[in-house]
Amino acid sequence: MERFILLILVFVGSFLAAVNCTPPSETWTCETTTNYPQAVCEVPSCTFAIKSHIRNEYDAAFTYMYMASYFAQDTIDRPGLAKFLFEAASEERGHAIQMLDYLNLRGIKLDGLDYNFNSSWIPADLTYQTALEKAINMEITVTDLIYNVVTSCGIDYHAADVFTNPILDEQHDGVRKLQGAYRTYLDMKTGQGASGMAFAEYVFDRKLLSGEI
Ligand SMILES: [Fe+2]
Repeated sequence: MERFILLILVFVGSFLAAVNCTPPSETWTCETTTNYPQAVCEVPSCTFAIKSHIRNEYDAAFTYMYMASYFAQDTIDRPGLAKFLFEAASEERGHAIQMLDYLNLRGIKLDGLDYNFNSSWIPADLTYQTALEKAINMEITVTDLIYNVVTSCGIDYHAADVFTNPILDEQHDGVRKLQGAYRTYLDMKTGQGASGMAFAEYVFDRKLLSGEI
């Protein structure tokens, strides 16, 4: 009988602990309030890492959008690359929204989000090859930065899991596809020799537009 009562006390105790959101360790913060909705536990370093990283997603989105607009101009006219870059911009914007949604899911206040786009890196004479290289470098950098977020969220299993899959999975998939496309681009260009490079680029772009690459 005593054992039974003890079990009930342990059960009720653990239930109350969950409801009151007792921090699993001193690294966690937890607002103890009777107001509703109540704040759920969070790891401040993880929250900071996520909020900071959203800026990188916005930067990538704006950079892709800028490059897409550049190649969509009638003076450049590379609709394949423009379409690819506009889609990549939507994807990055989608990642930022996904992360904002995640903070909202966890009941984390969306304050301190102040993002400005920095376009100083974009050269005036952007070439097809430079744009592809920029895209690859940007994706690899963002992938590395997401690993930092996962590290910062290490003890917050839920956040670490969300940022590992699907987010990291998509990043690696994106990097792989871009690297492959870049390889194809170089092969087509060098295969045509100096005089046929512009034509090779045109053909590559049509393949990108049709979804063949
Ligand atoms: Fe992204």
